[in-house]
Amino acid sequence: MHGVSLLFSLACGVSSSSIRTSPRLFLWPTPNERRRSHRKVRCAPITAQFELKRPPYPLDSLEPHMSRETVEHHWGRHHRGHVDALNAQIAGTQLQAMELEDVVIASYNKGSPQSPFVHAAQVWNHEFFWQSMKPGGGGKPSGKLMELIERDFGSFERMLKEFKEAASAQFGSGWAWLAYKANRLDVGNAVTPCPSEKDNKLVIAKTPNAVNPLVWDYSPLLAIDVWEHAYYLDHENRRADYASIFIEKLVSWDIVSSRLHTAMARAAERASEDGRRRQEDDVEITNSEAVEMYVDSDNDSESE
Ligand SMILES: [Fe+2]
Repeated sequence: MHGVSLLFSLACGVSSSSIRTSPRLFLWPTPNERRRSHRKVRCAPITAQFELKRPPYPLDSLEPHMSRETVEHHWGRHHRGHVDALNAQIAGTQLQAMELEDVVIASYNKGSPQSPFVHAAQVWNHEFFWQSMKPGGGGKPSGKLMELIERDFGSFERMLKEFKEAASAQFGSGWAWLAYKANRLDVGNAVTPCPSEKDNKLVIAKTPNAVNPLVWDYSPLLAIDVWEHAYYLDHENRRADYASIFIEKLVSWDIVSSRLHTAMARAAERASEDGRRRQEDDVEITNSEAVEMYVDSDNDSESE
C-alpha cells in the first residue's frame, strides 16, 4: 500500500482499494490541488474513480501495423467510454470499494450483457489488450512459454493458427484469448462451462461481448479485441488480416511469458494450499474415527 494511501486510509477508516488517486497528487500540489487535498483530509464523501490508463507506448508507435488513428479512436473513445460508464454505474455501491478484477468477478452474470459487468470487464479487457502489444512485437516466445505451447498445441505455428481461427470465428463482437487453465472447467461452450479432465495447460478460447476468462478462474495470458472498432479503420471488414498482423507483428511475448509465470506460481500456491487442507481434513477424520472406535469398544465391554 502506498504510504499516502495508508495514512489517509487510517485517518478516514476506509480501505486503500477505495482510494484511487492520480499520480499527480504525489508531486508538489498546485493551489487547487491543495484545496482538494484539504477536502480529502476532512473525509469528504469519497468517490472512487477508475482511471483511463494509457497504452504503455506512444499512440503512433504501433504503426504501420496498427494506425495512430485506430489507437486514438479505440483507446480515446471506446475504452474511455467504458471507464466513464463504469464509474457512473458503481458510484455509491459496494463495488466502488473493490479492485477492478474483483468488480468483474463479483458482477459476472453468465454472459448476459447487463451492467455493471459489461463496463468493468471491458475496462479490464482493454487495459490487458493494450499491454499485450508493443512496438516491434511479434516473433517467437522462448523458455517455459514456448515449452508449454509445444506441449499443448503441438507447435508454435499450430497455436498461431488456432488463435487466428478463434479470433475470426467469434460471431459478432467479442475477444479471443490464450489462457492458462489450472482448473477442470471446459469452456468449449463459453457461457456454461462443463467439467473436464484436462487442467494445468494452455488453452485458446473465444468469448462474446465483454466476457473474459477471469470468470471461469482461468488466467488470461493474451487477448485480441475482435469488436469491429478495433480493426475497421485499418482493415475494413477483414478481421482475419487484423488477427494475423496482431499475433505476428504486435504481440509482446515478454509480457505473455511474465503472465504465464505469475499464473503458474498462483496455481502452485493454490495446489499447495489445497493439499494442506486435505491433510488437515484427513487428520480430523482419523481422530474422529479413533474416538468412535474407543466409544464402541467401551460399549462392547459393558455389554459383556
Ligand atoms: Fe475495444
